[in-house]
Amino acid sequence: MSSRCDSRSWIGTIVAIVFVGPLFAQTVFADDKADADLRQQARELFPPLPKDASTNERPITPERVRLGRMLFFDSRISVDGSTSCSRCHLPSFYGTDALTQSIAVGNKRAPRNAPTVFYTALQVSQHWDGRFVDVEDQARKALTGPGFGNADEQSVEKRLEAIGGYPAAFREAFPGDQKPVSAQNLALAIGAFERTLIVPSRFDEYLAGKTDALSSDERAGLRLFIEKDCVQCHKGAGVGGTGYRKFGVFSDYRAATGTKNPDKGRFEVTKKSADVDKFKIPGLRDVAVTPPYFHDGSVNRLNDAVKVMGKVQLDVDLADVEVNAIVAFLNSLTGPIPADYERVPRLPAGGFVPSTPAH
Ligand code: HEC
Ligand code: HEC
Repeated sequence: MSSRCDSRSWIGTIVAIVFVGPLFAQTVFADDKADADLRQQARELFPPLPKDASTNERPITPERVRLGRMLFFDSRISVDGSTSCSRCHLPSFYGTDALTQSIAVGNKRAPRNAPTVFYTALQVSQHWDGRFVDVEDQARKALTGPGFGNADEQSVEKRLEAIGGYPAAFREAFPGDQKPVSAQNLALAIGAFERTLIVPSRFDEYLAGKTDALSSDERAGLRLFIEKDCVQCHKGAGVGGTGYRKFGVFSDYRAATGTKNPDKGRFEVTKKSADVDKFKIPGLRDVAVTPPYFHDGSVNRLNDAVKVMGKVQLDVDLADVEVNAIVAFLNSLTGPIPADYERVPRLPAGGFVPSTPAH
C-alpha cells in the first residue's frame, strides 16, 4: 500500500516537473520579462540623474557652494532685510513655500507659484515661462526684481561689503578676481549651490536595476505614465524640464483648473502668438511633496492635477484607479532633502540696517 502511494506521488512529482513546472516557470519568466521591458523603456526615457548639475562654464567649487549657501539663506540681500531666497524656497517644504502664490518684499503677492529649487538646474531654463537662461541668470536678476526690491545691484554689493565675513568668503570663492564682491559672483555662487541640490530617489534605484525599489503599485503607475503618454512631455533625468508646451492642448486650462489668475505663460516673454499659454514642462521630481500645483498653484491635490493633465493635455478621462496608480508612481520620485539645504548655515554677523521697516 505504502509502495503504491509512493509510486503515485512519484508520478505526481514527475507530472509536476515535466508539465506544470514549465508553465509555472513561463509565468514567472513572463513577469520578469515584463518588468525588464518596463525598466528598459524607463531607462530610455529617463537617463541617469547626474551627481550634480555643473558644466564646464559653471564649475562647482566647495568655496562657491559654501558662499552660495550662505547668500541663499541671508535676508540681507533684500532691500529691507525681510526676504531671503529661502523665504519662498523653504527647507521644510522641499524648496517651495507651499503657498498658492509667494509673498515678497512689502508683502506683495508674486504672480505665480514657487517651484522647488531642487533638481531645477537640470532644466532647460528657469521660471515657468523660461525667462531666465539658467540658475545664475535667475539669481542675479532676482536681486532687482519685485521679490527683493533692490533699486540696483550696487546697493546690494555695498551692503555685502559691509557685512564682516562676506568679503573674505567672496575672495576665497573667486580668487584673483579684481572685485570679488559683485552681483555677478553672488549669482555664480548661488548657482553653484543650486547645482548641488540633486539627490537620487527610489526611482533612481529602480532605474539602476533594483526592481523592488518600487512597489508593484508604483510600477503599475510607471507603466500607465508611459502608456498614457505623459512621457511625451515629462521625460529626461528631471522627469520634465526639457522644453515648453501649451497648457491646454485639447481644451482651455482655465476651465479645468478654475484659476482666478489668467496667465499666458511664455507669450509674456516672447510676445509670439504661438507661445500663448505655453509653459515650461515642469520636472516632476519631488512633485508629491510640493503642492499646490501648476504655475498659479490653482490645484491643491496631486490626484486632481493628474486628472487635469489627462483631460487638457491628452484628451483622456483617467479613471480613479489609474490616477491613484500614477500618483503612487509620482511618490517614488520624492528624494531626501539635500543635507546642505535642510540645515540653515551660520551667517556672518552685522553690517545691515534695514532701509525701510520690514512688514
Ligand atoms: C518672494 C518669493 C521668492 C523669493 C524671495 C525667491 N523666489 Fe525663487 N521663485 C519664486 C517664484 C514665485 C518662482 C516662479 C516664478 C515664475 O515662474 O514666474 C520662483 C522661481 C525660482 C526658480 C525657477 C524654478 C523653475 O523650476 O523654473 C529658481 C531657480 C529660483 N526661484 C531660485 C531663487 C533664488 C536663488 C532666490 C534668491 C536669490 C529666489 N528664488 C528668491 C519665489 C521666490
Ligand atoms: C503635452 C505635454 C504634457 C503632457 C502629455 C502631460 N503634461 Fe503634465 N504638464 C505639462 C505642462 C506644460 C505643465 C505645466 C502647466 C502649468 O502649470 O502651467 C504640466 C504640469 C504637470 C503637473 C504639475 C506639476 C507642478 O509642479 O505643479 C503634474 C503633476 C503633471 N503635469 C503630471 C502629468 C501626468 C501624470 C501626465 C499624464 C497623465 C501629464 N502630466 C501629461 C505638460 C504635459
